[in-house]
Amino acid sequence: MVKYNDILSRAYKAMENAYAPYSNFFVGACVKTKDGNYFIGANVENASYGLTNCAERNAIFQAYSNGYRQDDIEAIAIVGKGNTLITPCGACRQVLVELLKRDTPIVLGTKDEVVVTNIEELMPMSFTSDSL
Ligand code: THU
Repeated sequence: MVKYNDILSRAYKAMENAYAPYSNFFVGACVKTKDGNYFIGANVENASYGLTNCAERNAIFQAYSNGYRQDDIEAIAIVGKGNTLITPCGACRQVLVELLKRDTPIVLGTKDEVVVTNIEELMPMSFTSDSL
């Protein structure tokens, strides 16, 4: 999808920086802000496996660390190495439901396919600050 080529190509580039010696599973992500900035992320693993940070979390944390918030984010792309779409893990969905708007495009790509979804679709009936 031409519309998302910018974030998909940057996500692929970010994937090259993945530190994944344990799983050998490389993931890249890219957040685009409405003012035209890009923040990339790759998965970074740890010998204490549970401390691994996923690519999409690293990308969105970068955006927030640079002062951007929900309303400022245009879209996020997530890609992997193979031909399988990488859909965010449960932990990432919980992070994304808080840090993205419900309808912000989440662009999942392989070399052959692009699927555009959003966090409302990926995580209905979620636990958020509204629940507190
Ligand atoms: N991973 C991501 O970076 N994003 C996802 O959405 C799924 C999983 C990473 C975590 C770990 O480094 C590797 O992929 C295998 O689970």
